[in-house]
This record gives sequence, structure tokens and C-alpha cells, in this order.
Amino acid sequence: MKILILGGDGYLGWPTSMDLAAKGHDVVSVDNYSRRTIAMQTSSEALINMPNLEERAKLFKDLSGKEIKVSIGDLRDFSFIENLIKDNAPDAVIHYAEQPSAPYSLRGYEEAHFTLKNNLEVTHNLIWAVLKNKPDCHIVKLGTMGEYGCPNIDIEEGWIEIDHKGRKDKFLFPRAAGSLYHTTKVLDTDLLWFYVRTYNLRVTDLMQGPVYGLSTKETDLDERLLPNFHYDDIFGTVVNRFLVQAVAGVPLTVYGKGGQVRGYLNLKDTLQCIDLALNNPAEKRELKIYNQLTETFSVNELADKVKQAGEKIGINVKIKSIPNPRKEPEEHYYNPIHTGLQKLGLDPHYMTLERLAEMMKVVVKHKDRIDSSKIFPRVKWS
Ligand SMILES: NC(=O)c1ccc[n+]([C@@H]2O[C@H](COP(=O)([O-])OP(=O)(O)OC[C@H]3O[C@@H](n4cnc5c(N)ncnc54)[C@H](O)[C@@H]3O)[C@@H](O)[C@H]2O)c1
Repeated sequence: MKILILGGDGYLGWPTSMDLAAKGHDVVSVDNYSRRTIAMQTSSEALINMPNLEERAKLFKDLSGKEIKVSIGDLRDFSFIENLIKDNAPDAVIHYAEQPSAPYSLRGYEEAHFTLKNNLEVTHNLIWAVLKNKPDCHIVKLGTMGEYGCPNIDIEEGWIEIDHKGRKDKFLFPRAAGSLYHTTKVLDTDLLWFYVRTYNLRVTDLMQGPVYGLSTKETDLDERLLPNFHYDDIFGTVVNRFLVQAVAGVPLTVYGKGGQVRGYLNLKDTLQCIDLALNNPAEKRELKIYNQLTETFSVNELADKVKQAGEKIGINVKIKSIPNPRKEPEEHYYNPIHTGLQKLGLDPHYMTLERLAEMMKVVVKHKDRIDSSKIFPRVKWS
């Protein structure tokens, strides 16, 4: 297939670019380095220095013989994205190119405005570039499980049938996001659904949980091919923060009671899910939605796992609750259905202590670059 990857320099975009190129697809990877810019502006640089996208694509070609074409530009610029679609006529576009940090989106007006504009404009530009130039192109969009929030009922895969006063209809499952960033993802889904049902687009929206992991077949070739690994309060996921705290000898900072449950998945499984979505495309006028996670844990359970993984490699880990900077339920019901991708063949890589210990060993190699002051919350929800 001819595949465009939007956000190709990112944590998910880069391993996806390599994975699909290795499988023989014709891949164009697109980015404007906005993640790197924001990380610099907020002192949230990644733990490991990464070559830029062009340099990494060249290195990957030298090591594997596979080509990833690179295009640098801002996808908010309609003529840029329109030319990409015209010139490449892709069979599929994978859309990762958004500002994905919840704390950043709550940092102040400028950051909120940027997140809203960036995420909605890129999605809307993509929709129109496809409609005008390659209307049968399959859009694979990364949504997030955070769109649903934590309802007191099971979370269905995207849709719910409602029986009301003797009549039935199917609707998007109710959304109640907990941050402005997550709210932009809800708005993305609504935009896509509108254009699917009105303009016959073909879209798969993947409601993904937090992803962890550094190792894939291709990132294992050379450390310079690793994806970004952030451990700060702005871009670091809870898994990354805990792993770095463990190595730095800082007690793992559990926010509040630690009963916040989320659905996680390994980076290798994100690659599998993308592959499954590409090979089982939505039809015209169809919006397919999958909940993309493999297992659920509370923050307390996660802290405990990291503690045990530390013990495996001789690191003594402490855990400490700190006041929660977020507005979120700290104890709640959480039962997301996630059978769709497994039915298509997803074979999960679960979060074993060995996998966590392997990640910790990578962190240990870069221990001298850890800046503990970045780990503690710098942004409060209102
Ligand atoms: N990583 C996760 O755990 C996770 C979980 C759920 C959903 N997601 C979603 O997956 C997607 C990718 O996440 P990620 O963790 O790889 O984030 P990331 O920030 O590492 O990658 C996103 C990339 O998009 C680029 N980008 C942003 N705006 C752009 C623009 N206007 N023009 C060109 N490039 C632009 C950034 O520079 C960055 O390299 C996001 O949409 C995010 O919401 C991620």
C-alpha cells in the first residue's frame, strides 16, 4: 500500500513508519517537529537524544535497506497537506499528528488555544484534502480511551444502541473527556463521523489507551532508532514517569488515592492494531471504532508492578501518594469492552515484570540525564 503517516517523528509515528516500511509498504512520514519544539519550550525534553526524522530515516535505510520518505511541514497548512495527498495518492493515511499532552492543554490560554487549533485543523484539513483528491483513501485516526472518561457503565466499542420510549437507535457512545486535549479528540471523532455519513469517507478511529514500551523489531536494530521517551509531567505517561523515578531513587508519585484505572497496551501491539486496521478497512460511509487496549490497571497496581520489576534488577523502589493535580475520580468503575481487535487477530504482549525491567535497564543507561525536577506536577487542572 501507499501509506502516509502524519506525525511520523512521534512516539508512535516513528516505529509505525519503520514497521510498515519493513513490511514492504510505500511509506511517507510527515511531521513539523512541534512535539520537539513544545518539549524545549516547557523543559520537557526526552531522556534519550534522538536524531531528527530525516536522519533517522537515513539511518534506517542504511541498516535495513528500506526507504521511508520524509516530508517536513505543518499540516495546519492546507496547501501542504493537499499536495501530499495529490502527489502520493495514498491508499491509507494514519493520523497521529496532534498535540497529545493533557497537562500541556491545561497550562494556560496559549497552550489551550494551540491544542484546540492544531488538533482540529489538522483533522479537518486531512478530511478535505482526502475528499478533494483521493476520496476512497482509508483514514486511520488515533483517538483515545480518554474520550469516554470513566462512566459508571461498561464502555462499548464506539457505539451504543439506546432503547428509548419503545424505539431504538444506534449512537456514538457518550463521551465525557477529562482534559481539553481529550476533548479535542472527542471533537475529532464528531468531525469524522459527520464527514463519513455526509460525504462517504472511509474512517477507522482507534480509541487507544496509554502505550508503553520502546522495543520493536526495528527499534531494536540501533538505539538511535528508539522512539521518544519522555518522563516529565507534561509528556511522560505514568508508566515512563514511574520507571524513571524508580531508577532515580525518587518515590513513585501516585496522584491521590491511586485508584484511577486505565487500559494500557504495549508499543508492539499498537503496531499490530495499525496493521489490522489497514488490512480490514472501513467501507465507504463507514466509521469503524475499536477500543485499543489489552489490559487494565489502577495507578496503585502499576506502581506495585514497577516496584516488583525494580526488585528483579536490584533496585529498591518506594511509593508515595501526592496531592492529585488533576480533577478526576480516584476510585471508580471501569470496564471497557475491547474484543474487536482481538477478533481480528491481535495477539497481546502483556505488561510483564520482565518487560518493565527491560525498559528500566534502558533508563539506567541514561541515568545521568535524568532531571528529577521535571517529574513532579507543574500543571494543575484549574
Ligand atoms: N502515546 C500514547 O500513549 C497515546 C495514547 C492514546 C492516543 N494517542 C494518540 O496517538 C497520537 C500520537 O501520539 P504520540 O504519543 O505518538 O504523540 P507524539 O507527540 O510523540 O507524536 C505526534 C507527532 O505529531 C506531530 N505533529 C503535531 N502537530 C502537527 C502538525 N500540525 N503538523 C505536522 N506534525 C504535527 C508532532 O511533532 C509529533 O511528532 C496522538 O494523536 C495521540 O492523541 C497516543
